[in-house]
Amino acid sequence: MKKLLEELTEEMGQAFAAAGYDKDLGKVTLSNRPDLCEFQCNGAMAGARSYKKAPIMIANDVAVKLADSQVFGAVEAVAPGFLNLKVSDSFLLHYLEEMEADPKFGLNMPVSPKKIIIDYGGPNVAKPLHVGHLRSAVIGESVKRICRYVGHEVIGDVHLGDWGLQMGLNIIGLQDRQPDLVYFDESYEGEYPKEAPFTISELEEIYPAASAKSKEDPEYKARAMEATVKLQNGVRGHRALWRHILNVSVADLKKNYAKLNVEFDLWKGESNVQELIPDMVAYMKEEGYAHESEGALVVDVKEETDTKEIPPCMILKSDGASLYNTTDLATILERMNLYQPDEIIYVVDKRQELYFEQVFRCARKTKLVKPGTELKFLGFGTMNGKDGKPFKTREGGVMRLEDLIRDTQEEMYRKILEGREKGHEISDEEAGLVAETVAVSALKYGDLSNQASKDYVFDLDRFTSFEGDTGPYILYTITRIKSILAKYKGQGGNLAQVTLREPQNESEKALMLQLTQFQSMMAAACEELAPHKVCSYIYDLSNAFNHFYHETNILREEDQEKRSGLIALLVLTRDVLETCIDVLGFGAPERM
Ligand code: ARG
Repeated sequence: MKKLLEELTEEMGQAFAAAGYDKDLGKVTLSNRPDLCEFQCNGAMAGARSYKKAPIMIANDVAVKLADSQVFGAVEAVAPGFLNLKVSDSFLLHYLEEMEADPKFGLNMPVSPKKIIIDYGGPNVAKPLHVGHLRSAVIGESVKRICRYVGHEVIGDVHLGDWGLQMGLNIIGLQDRQPDLVYFDESYEGEYPKEAPFTISELEEIYPAASAKSKEDPEYKARAMEATVKLQNGVRGHRALWRHILNVSVADLKKNYAKLNVEFDLWKGESNVQELIPDMVAYMKEEGYAHESEGALVVDVKEETDTKEIPPCMILKSDGASLYNTTDLATILERMNLYQPDEIIYVVDKRQELYFEQVFRCARKTKLVKPGTELKFLGFGTMNGKDGKPFKTREGGVMRLEDLIRDTQEEMYRKILEGREKGHEISDEEAGLVAETVAVSALKYGDLSNQASKDYVFDLDRFTSFEGDTGPYILYTITRIKSILAKYKGQGGNLAQVTLREPQNESEKALMLQLTQFQSMMAAACEELAPHKVCSYIYDLSNAFNHFYHETNILREEDQEKRSGLIALLVLTRDVLETCIDVLGFGAPERM
């Protein structure tokens, strides 16, 4: 289905042509004076010079041609030569009917859908999740859903950090606590137990303690490095412990991500590609891409047009160990082998931008990817506390995701009960369940409504408010619609039999016009990997709805047909809003 602005531009172009002017002058845009008109065209101004005419004359000529337009309800040529436009009610109705009949509300599917891999989440096994990982999960999940909705094939990969020094630290930390475990007996040849010798809570204590100790005690750190090397070289006991750590940690991660409606298609990690590294390195050497520099193996990636220094991409350290880069390059290789994606998108803290620039250039130069494969970095800013510094717990530590979710739920619960005192009927139990759902919207919308690359302040009180640009406000609007629809059904109405009608007043028309913008918004959100566009759209849509709601008697409308038209508009608004929150990664309760 064509975008509304395309339809309007076409009609306008024909009028320019009919009046003897260039059709291309008829570009219609949203009005920047919404108090005067809905849309505008500035083509007469643009054409004045080549036609050697006053713009207002051109505008008048065009307006005459549009006097009987089916598309425009009002066309006004105003000085010095603008065309102020309103669409006709019948055209708007027709457009909405088409949108309503389409499962994607008029959004066109791509001619050639892309296969996209999204690398997001990126938690480090057995290390506490910090809020940076929260952002990656929330933004990545939404980008995945948006691209899927728009019609691409998308694979989400969590890309676990499961191979670094933190694994060695965990192993020796465990050894300190339980030195007699069979895993540490190098002469042991039997099977290892199936049960992990620790719980997730123990694991959560082990890493921070071992990490702190390694910072003070160089010998301890050396031991951790040694354990890491043993693990990487395949020492049986270390590998077996590593498996346990991975399993316990992943089970916990899955539980936490599930609370946030975050789901990955692939649970791969750094460890999966280690076996590809030796051949990849040999290839880079043989083809002359990699060379030695101060003992290390590097690939130069600087380009003549660079305005800032881009250091070489290091493939192996001087001791022969591989690095974060090496693993990322091997992961690209594996992804190309297994999935042949058209695009790989990385949703990672923007402080890693230069790093990814090096990796991408290196992957291109060494032909790990095809020339047409796009590698995109979607870098996000920091989530700060109210003090403007990176978000911490009150005690100044790393905020566990679980605690952040719990705090948000508690605050939401409190606000829902507060609302109840003002006359909402809801049991404690239901309030608890509703708080869980609404808390997800508060957290996610609070994050996603900011442009990803910007830093933002985590403000629990604001994010959980039912008023303003917040998730709970959007959900409140949706449940308001749902409750009216439920009442309509209660009065014997049938939602399958309602039909849209032409708008009866300004606020209804404004709501309808807002709905027509769905497809261009969604296409742009996908194109620009920008969930915040979905947020600002549903905020405007919710405002338009609430304004309309306050101006209109819906259930008390006596005229059957008019009432049916209003209900049909509510159904469409609800469906568009619910589609949007679904791509943002949260849902709405039935009532609240
Ligand atoms: N685990 C990494 C970190 O905590 C993030 C991983 C990002 N993805 C990647 N392919 N490097 O910083």
